[in-house]
Amino acid sequence: MNAFEYRDGQLFCEDVAVQGLADKFGTPLWIYSKAQLLHQLGQIQTAFTEVDPVICYSVKANSTLGILKVMNEAGASFDVVSGGELYRVKQAGADTTRVVFAGVGKTDEEIRFALECDILKFDVESEDELDAIARVAESMGKVGRVALRLNPDIDAKTHAKTTTGKKGNKFGMDIERAGQLADKVLKNPHLQLSGIHMHLGSPILTTEPYEKAARKAIEIVREYRSKGHEINWINLGGGFGISYKHDEGLPASEYAKVIVPAVKEAGCRLALEPGRFIAGNSGILVSRIIFTKREGGKLFYIQDGAMNDLVRPAMYDSFHRVWPVKPAVPMPADAESAPDGCEVADVVGPVCESGDYFAKDRALPPMQRGDLLCVFSAGAYGSVMSSNYNSRPRAMEILVDGDAYKVIRKRETLEDLVRLELVD
Ligand code: LLP
Repeated sequence: MNAFEYRDGQLFCEDVAVQGLADKFGTPLWIYSKAQLLHQLGQIQTAFTEVDPVICYSVKANSTLGILKVMNEAGASFDVVSGGELYRVKQAGADTTRVVFAGVGKTDEEIRFALECDILKFDVESEDELDAIARVAESMGKVGRVALRLNPDIDAKTHAKTTTGKKGNKFGMDIERAGQLADKVLKNPHLQLSGIHMHLGSPILTTEPYEKAARKAIEIVREYRSKGHEINWINLGGGFGISYKHDEGLPASEYAKVIVPAVKEAGCRLALEPGRFIAGNSGILVSRIIFTKREGGKLFYIQDGAMNDLVRPAMYDSFHRVWPVKPAVPMPADAESAPDGCEVADVVGPVCESGDYFAKDRALPPMQRGDLLCVFSAGAYGSVMSSNYNSRPRAMEILVDGDAYKVIRKRETLEDLVRLELVD
């Protein structure tokens, strides 16, 4: 399904016209589709059902409470990487006993908070962290349930800044070292080792890295069991890719084909931590053209969205489709084609950096001041990574459900920008 479609020459989110929302609430504006979020989660739930999975929606992809609530009501659990994310999960009314907690630098306060919340598992990334969990758990008279996060040394062929499962990345531990730690856990009554965790990177558009990781997981589960551990969880992290350009994203069932047999062979339950797959194509960013200009032989569309709203193009050279909300030329199926009536242009924002762009040298239909523009596939790692750079208030967020919608985050005001600052 695709919740964002052009009908009668204008863009809709489900049954709500994007133009109407932008006119009413202003721009830049994040718009999410509840139906798409549920469809994406449902695809994973169905594809992996045979191994009774716990689908831990990765909060880092989009942590707005309104989104977490949709996930919670649909039966997802959560993957967090900070006390702040865990707090959000609680605020969304979720059961924290199915939460998994990864991250290389958990503080004692965060560990204590997680133990109070009785989370399912800490994904442990170092010996120091294991010691810290044991110490805090002992002081609270509790047992910390842990999974060891392994670095399987698999090249997932993602962007250098988002690959995590290769030797030399800061994440996880070498398999040999993790084996030594497993021995240590056995001797500590405040620790219980119940699983292994691997996250390979993001986004991953082939199934091969998962197949390799799952095969390694079987061997390691057997080894740990032979040492006396009751291992019943394999967590293969997140990373499933999505369609940014055309339809390059794989259905969840393709990943399931290589993961499910291995998890069954190991006799384990499966945890997954999808973020982008659920939120990415479920959200757009809508902005309005402020000016157009031609300089240095180029056409620039200057609009009111910027790198402080969506930093992905500046940070990772990421590709997002952009197209007008009421286009003079219909959007082609493939992002790389240049239909008649289009002209090559850059779509840039008002921030004072050359890296502040959403599209470069892109064939686009003609637009003028006041026209609305949509940035597609912006639901994951969009609003969560936004900032107040250039003292720009953060944008509003709307959740659409059929022909209804609600505001799930208000637009920040100028007063909000200075609220926490002290001058005397
Ligand atoms: N689990 C762990 C341990 C992770 O580190 C991540 C992502 C996920 C799950 C979720 O991965 P996903 O299913 O969303 O691919 N800001 C970057 C992406 C950073 C991903 C960080 N870790 C971007 O905009 O592309």
